[in-house]
Amino acid sequence: MFEGLFNLHPDAENFHSKIKLRKGVIIGAGQVGMACAYSILIQDCFDELILQDIATEKVEGEVMDLLHGVPFISPTRIKAGTVADVGQDADVVIVTAGSNQKEGETRLDLLHRNVKIFRGLIGDVAKHCPNAILLIVANPVDIMTYVSLKLSGFPSSRVFGSGTVLDTARFRALLANRLDIDPRSVHAYIIGEHGDSEVPVWSKANVAGMKICDGDWEGSPSCDLAELNEIFEQVKNAAYEIIKRKGYTSYAIGLAVTEIVKAILGNQNRIFTVSTRVDKMYGLSEDICISLPSIVNQKGVMKVMNFTLAENEEKLLKKSAHTLREYIDKLDL
Ligand code: LAC
Repeated sequence: MFEGLFNLHPDAENFHSKIKLRKGVIIGAGQVGMACAYSILIQDCFDELILQDIATEKVEGEVMDLLHGVPFISPTRIKAGTVADVGQDADVVIVTAGSNQKEGETRLDLLHRNVKIFRGLIGDVAKHCPNAILLIVANPVDIMTYVSLKLSGFPSSRVFGSGTVLDTARFRALLANRLDIDPRSVHAYIIGEHGDSEVPVWSKANVAGMKICDGDWEGSPSCDLAELNEIFEQVKNAAYEIIKRKGYTSYAIGLAVTEIVKAILGNQNRIFTVSTRVDKMYGLSEDICISLPSIVNQKGVMKVMNFTLAENEEKLLKKSAHTLREYIDKLDL
């Protein structure tokens, strides 16, 4: 329709560019998928971003809305489509699709509903995007990650979940508030299941190398166990409390996923508590995906860090692993 406006440069047709475009897909255009899309878009992660959802009108509307904002940010070609539209070139496929958690429901309650949805979805991803990294966000995330690993046949380095990245952020945010320190300077991890059996690693939580629960840090909660427990309870119950008030959680997970995507595309070797398949570490004998601090780069999960846990932390981690395996055992994979 605009022919004549531009003349093709005579050499352009014969030039094969080696520049690789960054291509991503987000499956699921619900609250979490859209928070991921918005955050990813405004932080200029991909050159091309496809949003896929079975609710085609809804996803078209979402894409139109985002597209009209692109003149205000770095350009991204954003489209409604499917994994088949990106194909071999997809760098990262983010899966947020599935039912979401209702008030009073645990993440594990969602399991059977979401496994059904994943059978078709992950098969399509494996077929059309065989080289992509699969980042699973749908809950119960540890189990959905394991299910995706099995269904895709991808190597475990390329299939991992957002896991307790968000819980770790919540932990840091609450500690940061309590200590009046920038959350980026609070080093603390939540490991295990993204859910009720998750484990706070108090033995390693520190600010500038000073252990938070040793009282090294001036003004820290010190060894006030009641206060430490209260902070952890708030972390563990955060999703329930947010869902009770607004019906879903979205912004923080969107930001968490964006940081993981940036670590992948930028080959950052950044450490996140992503949910990944662990092989006989921390005395874990179960075949599961679980969150532990891991190095993330363009190959996916490069390494799971093998740090020393306190005895009670290791015990709780094993219990968390056991909970996850019990649920996996109920599946027909
Ligand atoms: C939460 C959801 C994403 O914890 O599981 O907010």
